Amino acid sequence: MEETNSKTPLLAVEHLKKYFEIRQGFSKKLFVHAVDDVSFSIQKGETLGLVGESGCGKTTLGRTILRLTEPTDGKILYNGTCINDVDMRPYRQKMQIVFQDPYASLDPRLTVSAIIGEALDINGKAGSKQERQEKILHLMKLVGLSENFYNRYPHEFSGGQRQRIGIARALAVDPEFLVCDEPVSALDVSIQAQVINMLEELQKSRHLTYLFIAHDLSVVRHISDRVAVLYLGHLVELAPCDALYRNPIHPYTDMLLSAVPIPDPDESEKRKRKILQGEIPSPINPPSGCPFRTRCPYADDECAASFPELTDRGGGHFAACHKR
Ligand SMILES: Nc1ncnc2c1ncn2[C@@H]1O[C@H](COP(=O)(O)OP(=O)(O)O)[C@@H](O)[C@H]1O
Ligand code: SF4
Ligand SMILES: [Mg+2]
Repeated sequence: MEETNSKTPLLAVEHLKKYFEIRQGFSKKLFVHAVDDVSFSIQKGETLGLVGESGCGKTTLGRTILRLTEPTDGKILYNGTCINDVDMRPYRQKMQIVFQDPYASLDPRLTVSAIIGEALDINGKAGSKQERQEKILHLMKLVGLSENFYNRYPHEFSGGQRQRIGIARALAVDPEFLVCDEPVSALDVSIQAQVINMLEELQKSRHLTYLFIAHDLSVVRHISDRVAVLYLGHLVELAPCDALYRNPIHPYTDMLLSAVPIPDPDESEKRKRKILQGEIPSPINPPSGCPFRTRCPYADDECAASFPELTDRGGGHFAACHKR
């Protein structure tokens, strides 16, 4: 989708922070720096991919945007309006989430129709009994579930089908913006493409805007217009999809890409394989200076001494590194 910089983004975050307070022993207060000073925007109809290893703050970022957890600092703007302190009820219909775990996110005691119907009821979208049933059947059809499944329970379904139920539930309120939190990570690779293709088709037909989270760069490549890379709660690179995969700037993006199989042998040849080394530092005691310096092959004294800000490298490509 084309960049429309002159238009108000559907979603923007400015210097967003989420620190979790935890206690060690009786007195000592510690903070988990789960999301640390993150800024970006998403245009209407766009898909922003968000990637990073497990624990880097992706889910927390998604949940904070939806105010399922409150930000520690910074702003969340929806269609130009700051929603930090507003009553979220009207926004709950506009902003929805598809969860990572299709097994844990559906109430096992409810049938498919009850799960989707509940979302309609909560948001006052059900209408008469007959309208409600028609809406449920329409939503089931939309996500490729046979109407024969109307009275079935989640345990009777495969992971892919359960994720379709979760997507139907999110779509029940006719949202504009969806946080897809690793919607295919728990699914077999053969099923992943089906669900991603369906989300792409739904995006077109329902004019949706996505924040699409994954831990693997190969998953977001096809669906994203731009990709943001998160490391230890910090945005380290943000670029149009093609630019990020062809010309990664940040050493961490490089490492994530080296873990992705590449179909094009020329491209593969150009890229030195760098295996992700070392452990992610604790977000309770992040390193001084650059958060990536403990794993970075290019780190030097400057990297330990000063924090690299995200800077504009041209063509909408941003990176946070002193050396590259
Ligand atoms: N409710 C919480 N209380 C304390 N720490 C949390 C909480 N939720 C997440 N965290 C921590 O915040 C960091 C980011 O977690 P998360 O957002 O789940 O990462 P990701 O989705 O990228 O795997 C992790 O270190 C995690 O342990
Ligand atoms: S700032 Fe230094 S440590 Fe951080 S990614 Fe760049 S070279 Fe590596
Ligand atoms: Mg997560």
